[in-house]
Amino acid sequence: MDSDQLPEFFYEIFAASLPRLGPGDEASTLKALDLWRWAGPQRKNRAARCAARILDIGCGNGAQTLVLARHTEGSILAVDNHQPFLDELQRRAKAAGVSGRIQVSLRDMRSLNASDGPFDLIWSEGALFVMGFREGLTACHSLLAPGGGLAASEMCWLRPDPPDACRQFFAETYPALTDIETNLAAIRACGYEIVGHFPQPESAWWEPYYHPIEERLGRLRKQYAAEEEKRSMIEGIQKEIDLYRQYAAFYGNVFFVMRRRWT
Ligand SMILES: C[S@@+](CC[C@H](N)C(=O)[O-])C[C@H]1O[C@@H](n2cnc3c(N)ncnc32)[C@H](O)[C@@H]1O
Repeated sequence: MDSDQLPEFFYEIFAASLPRLGPGDEASTLKALDLWRWAGPQRKNRAARCAARILDIGCGNGAQTLVLARHTEGSILAVDNHQPFLDELQRRAKAAGVSGRIQVSLRDMRSLNASDGPFDLIWSEGALFVMGFREGLTACHSLLAPGGGLAASEMCWLRPDPPDACRQFFAETYPALTDIETNLAAIRACGYEIVGHFPQPESAWWEPYYHPIEERLGRLRKQYAAEEEKRSMIEGIQKEIDLYRQYAAFYGNVFFVMRRRWT
């Protein structure tokens, strides 16, 4: 398999038909949305009204987009760089009767700029890391109206003493992985007030994400038994899953909810 085939096979594993494409669940999306809604002096009504223009960055097949559509009254621009995910999002939105408020856009999130905004609320579950969490915070700041909200989930160290195997894995795959305090400091430094933050439960990794992928890996392992490079990609993803199975106490996905400072 040459390198051109790798992305194609990657998308055979991370297929649009999966429930979602990163760790997360409806309860976490709603918890973050509630944090945002209840933030600030005028509370729910104002925050709900302010969520009129919503941007979902790295929306994937729309797991969180649909939750937002069902629980807000805003219009949502859902951005991803993989068309099959957007097609699936639209199919699910239609089935849920919310397609009228969701517009999809096939583009690189790094091309978003102030002329696309301003937005009242930006959502990004497990995707700001593509730009780099801090760079993503800066990019979102210029897309938000003053006082607008950003809710983003990001993988973090949950304990300061990860075992060597765990540390080594992320040194190779995500060297920017850092702890919650460092991310909170970055959020403040990038011009936001922190509304709240919470770690997602382990079940948000297993039920909607790793379990369906593991099931898929089992099938693909048989199908591509003779294709070494595909097998190697399958085992690489299996290794990531096994790592979480063993070391979930040491790292996890944390939802950060923040507000762009008024000045
Ligand atoms: C970990 S998945 C999360 C998807 C979704 N938010 C969820 O939680 O199910 C990251 C998403 O970012 C998208 N993505 C990756 N690089 C991107 C880029 N440069 N521009 C836009 N989207 C990108 C991927 O296609 C994928 O859908």
